[in-house]
Parts: sequence; C-alpha cells; structure tokens
Amino acid sequence: MSKVIAMAGKGGVGKTTVSALVARHFAKNSKNPLLAVDADPNSNLGETLGLEIEKTVGDIREDFMKDPQGVPSGMDKVLYLEMLMNQVLIEQQAFDLLVMGRQEGQGCYCMVNNILNRFSDELEKNYAYLLVDNEAGMEHLSRRTSGKVDILVMVSDYALRGLRAVGRINSMLDDLKLEVRNKGLVVNRAPETLSPRFLEEVEKIGVPILCTIPDDNNLLEFDMEQRSLLDLPDDSDAVKAVDGMMARVKEMIG
Ligand SMILES: Nc1ncnc2c1ncn2[C@@H]1O[C@H](COP(=O)(O)OP(=O)(O)OP(=O)(O)O)[C@@H](O)[C@H]1O
Ligand SMILES: [Mg+2]
Repeated sequence: MSKVIAMAGKGGVGKTTVSALVARHFAKNSKNPLLAVDADPNSNLGETLGLEIEKTVGDIREDFMKDPQGVPSGMDKVLYLEMLMNQVLIEQQAFDLLVMGRQEGQGCYCMVNNILNRFSDELEKNYAYLLVDNEAGMEHLSRRTSGKVDILVMVSDYALRGLRAVGRINSMLDDLKLEVRNKGLVVNRAPETLSPRFLEEVEKIGVPILCTIPDDNNLLEFDMEQRSLLDLPDDSDAVKAVDGMMARVKEMIG
C-alpha cells in the first residue's frame, strides 16, 4: 500500500507550497513513484508545479451527471468513467498528478463517486507515495475510502492563530474515520528562533515540529513570474528546509 503524506492547516499558510516542495524533493532525490493529489477545489498545486490543468475529476463527475446516457454505445459505464479518469491523470517523468476539482453539487452522485473512488484506490496502488494537498477544511481526507494517513503534515504560519487552527484540526482527527499514524508541524515563514510563547503553544498542542521554513524571496519571485517550484535552486532556503523535513518524514513512515 502506498505511504500517504497529507497536508492540513488554515487557509494561506503554505500547504500548497510545502506540497510542491515535497513533490520537488521526490523529483530530485527519490526513485520512488509519487502520485500528487490536488484535493483543493480551488486547485493550484498543478500551477505551482508549472502544469496546465485542463480537466479535473470533478469535471468528469459533472459531465457524466449532466448526460448519463452519453456513454458510447456498447461501452460499460464503469469502463467509460475509468477511461475518462485516465485522461485526467497528468503523467510526468518525476511524478503524476491527479486534480480532484470541485466537490459535487446537488443530486445523487453515489454511483459515480463509488466508481471514481474505486478507481482512485486502484490507481494509488501503483505508487510508493501519495501526497495529498488539502484545502483548509478536511473534506477530502475525511472522504478517503482507504482511511489511512501515514503522516499528516500540519502547516502553520508564525502566528498563534495559525497554530490554534492546527490545534483544532488535531482535536478533530479523532472524530474522522481516519487513521493518522504520525503527525508533524511545519512552521512556515518562521524567524530563526521561535519565541517561547509560540513554543509553549506548540507544546500544548503536542504535535512535534518537523521543520521551520523561513521567508524565502525565491518563492515570491517564482510566484510573480509563474515559474514552476520544481525549478527552484537546491540552495533555496525553503527547498533546504523541506528536503530536511523529508529526510525525517521518511524515517518516520519508512
Ligand atoms: N516560506 C515562504 N516564503 C515566502 N512566501 C511564501 C512562503 N510560503 C508560502 N509563501 C507564499 O504564500 C502564499 C500562500 O501559500 P500557499 O498557496 O502555499 O498556501 P495554502 O495554505 O496552500 O493556501 P490555501 O489555503 O489558499 O490553499 C503563496 O503566494 C506562496 O508563494
Ligand atoms: Mg493551497
């Protein structure tokens, strides 16, 4: 079964950035196949990685629901949906990317969802690692059928509010049908030394710090120039921090 690395944290704290840097880490340092899943309905992981997204899993679901009879004659609808899913999968040399897109609207989507979920489960088996960039809520994770996360990377900015959001997510985990095997905190846009007050709050939440990431001007520049974070230099501060984090993560989850 693939090892699942999932992101959580409040809006705008850097989940997608950290996800992109984890994908970069796999692309540069690992021979293990990675499937990156963009589970944010306002998907932008692909963009961050310099990829153009034409269609999402959500689009397939919508198209199918709009015209359930649109299955080519003689074709089984399961096979048809699977074929469409294969078209959504973006295959890269270094990793593959699946963009979930919007969640369903009104109507009963159970049948389509079942087929799409089963396909995702099968697909995941082809990869040693699965990386899930989540939206600020935990919607996607709570829907996962396999229900296991090897490490939940909780991202916070250097602010008590970000940290408290992590605290809330942490205490919510027990209510989800989700087996979270390891948890770690990433403090993004952090100064060199964390204040005692901040550390005290971290202690209270009880999630170990995996790494701190300083403000990195390269990220700003790459964002402005719409360049892929895969092309960040190896000695970029954020890259070094996430590479270091991944060494620890791999020790934790194998
Ligand atoms: N360490 C950093 N240094 C400089 N800029 C950063 C850093 N981390 C993130 N940013 C910038 O902050 C912005 C928000 O980051 P990002 O999109 O990764 O957050 P997010 O948690 O995924 O947001 P959302 O909840 O909207 O999905 C981006 O423009 C990103 O380039
Ligand atoms: Mg994001």
